[in-house]
Amino acid sequence: MKHLLKLLDLSTAEIKEILDLADKLKYENKNGIEHHILKGKTLGMVFEKSSTRTRVSFETGMYQLGGQALFLSPRDLQIGRGEAIEDTARVLSRYIDGIMIRTFEQKEVEDLAKFGSIPIINGLTDFCHPCQVLADLMTVREYKGKLEGLKMCYIGDGNNMTNSLIVGGLKMGMIVSVATPKGYEPDSTVLEFAKAYDCFSLVNDPFEAAKDADVIFTDVWASMGQEEEANERRKVFEGVYQVNEELLNVANEGCMVQHCLPAHRGEEITAETFEKHADEIFDEAENRLHAQKAVLALCLKD
Ligand code: CP
Ligand code: NVA
Repeated sequence: MKHLLKLLDLSTAEIKEILDLADKLKYENKNGIEHHILKGKTLGMVFEKSSTRTRVSFETGMYQLGGQALFLSPRDLQIGRGEAIEDTARVLSRYIDGIMIRTFEQKEVEDLAKFGSIPIINGLTDFCHPCQVLADLMTVREYKGKLEGLKMCYIGDGNNMTNSLIVGGLKMGMIVSVATPKGYEPDSTVLEFAKAYDCFSLVNDPFEAAKDADVIFTDVWASMGQEEEANERRKVFEGVYQVNEELLNVANEGCMVQHCLPAHRGEEITAETFEKHADEIFDEAENRLHAQKAVLALCLKD
C-alpha cells in the first residue's frame, strides 16, 4: 500500500491486512513488545482543522514505532500564504518520509500524492475519514469476532464518516443501512459504489435503518467547516436523528454503539446511551492508535 487516500482505493484484502496487523500491534503494545521498524523516519502532520485523537495517536504511534512526527499547522507553513500544494508536496518529499494531512478538500490530499513522492495518509477531509473507519472496523471485529454478515447502521448526517463507513463496511462483507434526512445524503460517488451491493440501504427513518442492527454509528449533525449551518441543521435533525434507548430497542440484542468523537450529548446521542456504551466508544478511540500504527508500518516501512 503506497498511500491511504480513501477506502475506495483499497481492496478487501488490503483492509484485512491492516486490521490483522493492527490487532497484532495492539497485542504487542499491551505486552510491552516494541518494534522500531520506522527508526529514523519522519512523518509530517498537516492540520488545517482541529484534532485531539488524530494528532495525538499519529504522533504517539510514530514514536512507538521508533520514528518521529512533526506537527505542521498551515499558519506556520507557507501553504497558509498561498504556496502551491504541488510545490509543497515536492519540497516535503525531499525532507520527510510521509505526510498525514487533515484538510477540507479531498483534491488537496490526492494532489499531494500526485505531485509528491512519499506516502500520503488522509487524516480526514470533507469527503472521508479512512483512518477512523479502520479503527471502527477493528473495534467491531474485536467485540463481535467477525465483520462479515453483521449489520452496520449509521444514523445522522451523510458526511465524511458515513462515506467511509459505507465503503469500509461493504468491502468487509457487512450489511449497511443508513438513515439521513432528505438533502443530507452521503456523497454521490459512494452511493454509486454502494449500488452494486444488495445489502446496502439508504432511508430517512432511523428506526427502519436500526432494525436488527449489530452496531449503530452516529456522528455530529454539523461537521468541522459547517459551523455556520449548525442552527439550521439542528432544526432538521433534532428529535429524529438521535441514537437513544428507544432506537436500540429495535436493534439486535447486544448491539454496539460507536461514535468517532467528539460527541454532542443530547444531540446525535443521548448521555444515557453514550455512557452505557462508553467502553465500546473509548476502545474505538484507543484503536485509532493501533490501526494507524498498522497503516504507518505498511506505508512507510522500507
Ligand atoms: N475522531 C477524530 O478524528 O477525532 P479528532 O478530530 O479529535 O482527531
Ligand atoms: N464529521 C466530523 C468528524 C470528526 C472526527 C467532522 O468532520 O467534523
